[in-house]
Amino acid sequence: MQHLLSINDLTSENIYQLIQRANEFRHKGIHTSFPDAAVALLFHENSTRTRVSFELASKKLGMTVIRFDGETSSLTKGETLFDTFMNLYAMGLRYFVLRHQENGIHKAIATRLPADAHLINAGEGVVSHPSQALLDAMTMVNHYKDDLPSKKVVIVGNIRHSRVAKSLLEILPKIGVSKVSLVAPKIWQLESPAFGDQTESLREGLADADIIITLRIQKERLEKDALFSLEAYRKDFAITEESLRFAKPTAIIMHPGPVNRDIELDSSVLDGSQSLVLKQVENGVWMRAAIFHEMLF
Ligand code: CP
Repeated sequence: MQHLLSINDLTSENIYQLIQRANEFRHKGIHTSFPDAAVALLFHENSTRTRVSFELASKKLGMTVIRFDGETSSLTKGETLFDTFMNLYAMGLRYFVLRHQENGIHKAIATRLPADAHLINAGEGVVSHPSQALLDAMTMVNHYKDDLPSKKVVIVGNIRHSRVAKSLLEILPKIGVSKVSLVAPKIWQLESPAFGDQTESLREGLADADIIITLRIQKERLEKDALFSLEAYRKDFAITEESLRFAKPTAIIMHPGPVNRDIELDSSVLDGSQSLVLKQVENGVWMRAAIFHEMLF
């Protein structure tokens, strides 16, 4: 694998191999070291989970890690991002982890990089977040194992502006999931989803649900939308102990983070026995190590 830009570039086999490798690392640890492999972490948007887990994963693999800070870099003097990449490449860096708000920038850079450089998409605008989808898939596969294809997945929130939701919609069919409900107010629904049914009714969406994935409510978007308020969203779309009763009693709760406690997800549900939210975070370290490992060989 040269780059990881989108789930669309991976086959089902690639995905299951990454999950298998990540589980192997999780259970047996990592016993190989790559000190000559240098990675730059370029986060042009804030991050906790993705940035720390990529850093931790690269350190577990014995890689040399450079945390690139855009705000104190020569980007502020007008250097382009591509030229920044090429200067880091000239210093010997071959692995690049990029989070950026601009849709399409990862592909635009990747196509111009030398053949031995590797770019990992750590979050791209409202388009994709493939490493998140991979760790989410790992969490679902580990929990339901061979029964996963019979399970129903529900994604609740701002589907239209969520890169997590977009990558999930790409990965779910590749791991055999065919029953998907997307629950969102009309303004946040997709125009024509390639996969899954859309509804404005949380009750309808959650019926028979086995996996509930709640998305972060982007308060900044709500503030811009005069037609909609946080209270209105919470009333109709929050996952609470009450709304959770619409789903199967065995349903698991997932959330990519960061969570707005008691807004899209009640604290009692987030901290409850059905929540796998911190398991997702734990799996993220091993999945990101598996992604690097795939590129290192
Ligand atoms: N899920 C996710 O991307 O979280 P961070 O923004 O904290 O990396």
